[in-house]
Amino acid sequence: MDDQLGKSMLYLSRADVAAAGPAMPQIISAVEQMFREKAEGRTEMPPKIGVHPMPDAFIHAMPAAIVAQKAVGMKWVAGYPENSKRGLPYISGVFILNDADTGFPVAFMDCTWITAQRTGAATAVAAKYLARPDSTKVGVLGCGVQGRSNLEALSVCFPLKKVYAYDTHPERAKTYAEEMRAKFNIEAAAVAQAKEAVIDSDIVVTAGPILRKPHATISSGWLRKGAFASLVDFDSYWHPEALHEADKFCTDDGLQLDHYREIGYFQDIPAIYADLAELVAGRKPGRQAKEERTMACNLGLALDDVATAPLIYQKAVEKGIGVRLPL
Ligand SMILES: NC(=O)c1ccc[n+]([C@@H]2O[C@H](COP(=O)([O-])OP(=O)(O)OC[C@H]3O[C@@H](n4cnc5c(N)ncnc54)[C@H](O)[C@@H]3O)[C@@H](O)[C@H]2O)c1
Repeated sequence: MDDQLGKSMLYLSRADVAAAGPAMPQIISAVEQMFREKAEGRTEMPPKIGVHPMPDAFIHAMPAAIVAQKAVGMKWVAGYPENSKRGLPYISGVFILNDADTGFPVAFMDCTWITAQRTGAATAVAAKYLARPDSTKVGVLGCGVQGRSNLEALSVCFPLKKVYAYDTHPERAKTYAEEMRAKFNIEAAAVAQAKEAVIDSDIVVTAGPILRKPHATISSGWLRKGAFASLVDFDSYWHPEALHEADKFCTDDGLQLDHYREIGYFQDIPAIYADLAELVAGRKPGRQAKEERTMACNLGLALDDVATAPLIYQKAVEKGIGVRLPL
């Protein structure tokens, strides 16, 4: 047992979390294993509750537990689309990791790195089951934090050769392309139109702002046959007709999707074919034909964070990172 249990908790700043950070393949495995546990009903996750102090902004409370892994905690995370005008990131917040046996908090950490990495990992898990294994070209729309972590995760699972980068701020797409070219040793093109990032891509990741009323830029006919799309920004980027072209439309949690529908999101999306737990557990087949268009709209689950945070805590303890705060 941790000799500090009940006496102190480990505080990890944003930089500490990144320094401790487990590698992406480990996070993808942890998230995939979590979906297996979820399929067996061995997880607990109440629907996201939150407050909305500004239009299209949110602060969510996200508790969850993975029983077998004794992983339990809660994220308190904000998403503010207007933050970029102030030079601030879209996402901010904290995560509390608890001891499953006593309930005591063991760590208190910045949650931006976890949010970035686990969301990328969830895209990779969905893509493992829904994308063509020979996918080489990725289109990224929204070249921010998620644009980066999603490509990183996809690079773990696919033989990537090229990324098309589109951002409403062209200089961000250019910087992103340069960074990704160097980081993953792939071709990277900053493109001037959203369509150019979609039409030739095997995998499309949309990661702009989440809007209750979609801007619906991506039209029907853009996503080519055989492609997979990860809708990190929900349905905001997609015209309903383009969404309805999907042969298989999946999500990470059907109940959470229903909850979002009730509060005004997702007014015109296809029927859900499967959730990720069903795909990972083999209860429903993923991609079955080369020509299928597949989509995953992962809402981002408290369980993703709870699967990832213990890895960060363990690494931080091993590496002696962070500051002890008395309880
Ligand atoms: N589904 C999930 O699990 C999950 C988790 C975390 C974040 N998100 C969402 O992902 C999105 C991106 O988050 P982030 O942290 O990367 O934000 P970010 O601010 O780091 O990046 C967003 C980028 O999108 C660009 N952009 C804005 N409008 C655009 C448009 N119409 N087309 C192309 N680019 C556009 C911005 O210039 C910026 O570069 C947000 O909507 C956030 O809520 C989803």
